[in-house]
Amino acid sequence: MIKYDFYTYTDKKVEDLNKYKDRIDSIKATMLKKSSMLDWLDKDTTITNEEIKRIKEISKSIREKADVFLVIGIGGSYLGAYSFIEAFKNYFTHQDTEVIFAGYSLSSEYLKDLFEYIKDKDIVVNFISKSGSTMEVNIVYQEVLKLLNDKYDDITDRVIITTDKESNLMKYAKENNFVTFEVPRNIGGRYSVFSPVGLLPICVSNINVDEVLKGLEAGKEDIDKAMEYACIRDLFYNEGKVIESFGVYEEKLLPFCEWLKQLFAETQGKENKAILPISTCNTRDLHSLGQFYQEGNKILFETNFKIEKTTNIYIDKYNKNLSDINNLAVDKVAEAHMNGKTYSNIITIDELNPYNLAKLMYFFMISAATGGYLLNIDPFNQPGVEEYKKLLKDSLN
Ligand code: PA5
Repeated sequence: MIKYDFYTYTDKKVEDLNKYKDRIDSIKATMLKKSSMLDWLDKDTTITNEEIKRIKEISKSIREKADVFLVIGIGGSYLGAYSFIEAFKNYFTHQDTEVIFAGYSLSSEYLKDLFEYIKDKDIVVNFISKSGSTMEVNIVYQEVLKLLNDKYDDITDRVIITTDKESNLMKYAKENNFVTFEVPRNIGGRYSVFSPVGLLPICVSNINVDEVLKGLEAGKEDIDKAMEYACIRDLFYNEGKVIESFGVYEEKLLPFCEWLKQLFAETQGKENKAILPISTCNTRDLHSLGQFYQEGNKILFETNFKIEKTTNIYIDKYNKNLSDINNLAVDKVAEAHMNGKTYSNIITIDELNPYNLAKLMYFFMISAATGGYLLNIDPFNQPGVEEYKKLLKDSLN
């Protein structure tokens, strides 16, 4: 269960949203028509039952044979799976098949350490790129390929390619008889977590994919809430609150914040508009950024996450469970920041599980797209990202 509180720790009232009614009705109508790039709205246009079955079978065989499942992707091609996998893994141990991500940077230090770590392990690689032409992932894939070819006589069952059906990468995958998955044409990277892009790595890491898909479907219950949140953000924005800080009190949710940052920044940051998404991990960052939130420039508002049920560790000194103290901190921090005129939305999940995380992601996908329409920009392109890719490629060539 997920509860959304947009009114306790802010100066906003539900009546403030009356002026959005017509706009939201028309945005809803536009979205329901499912014109371009909106296939993520429904499970059935995101992933087929046949693909789910294949994902489960292939994941099982990967878990049987691989020590490391190496996922090469960047942006929307890795952040969704990364969010799930980090949220549900143990802080200090890893599963028999460890999922490792690469290709999201050009760090040679990372590649050196990675290759050292995996050289004697059994590896299966999932190269994920919708376009197939992203530089970072191509560089890393070529290096990984050398390693695979040095290690194995036949790499056919060691490489899985997830890409657009018309890309050159798909052509290459077919020519080499690699297992392939398609990225749906009408779903952009940052909206693709529930397609094979996210679901294959999620399933390999033993997260219950059926629960993820149930959460996705249940997300529809919260469409109106998601649109309400989009309006709240718009109200803040129009008052000069140009930064939204997503605050988690459980470090396992930090990768989810990275996903949120991409979702909002790439969906809305266009034509000199939009709110800059940032994130904090509390209570750690209360001892650094907290000072600014309390007394600094009033350019930001917060959206904080609370988890009701977690592991119980009893703290004698306060006669309370640690998780209750953590949740009390969420409220008290919001109260203190509100006194300093930094306002907070609070989103509470009863438990951190795959169902709730999927439902929450769907909520944010709806609100990010709705907010894009409220700003009169195209939510589904990312011309700014293309610009840097082009400049770097040109200078290398
Ligand atoms: O959301 C997006 O579309 C982008 O962040 C892409 O996911 C990212 O640039 C990676 O692109 P590709 O999957 O084509 O390699």
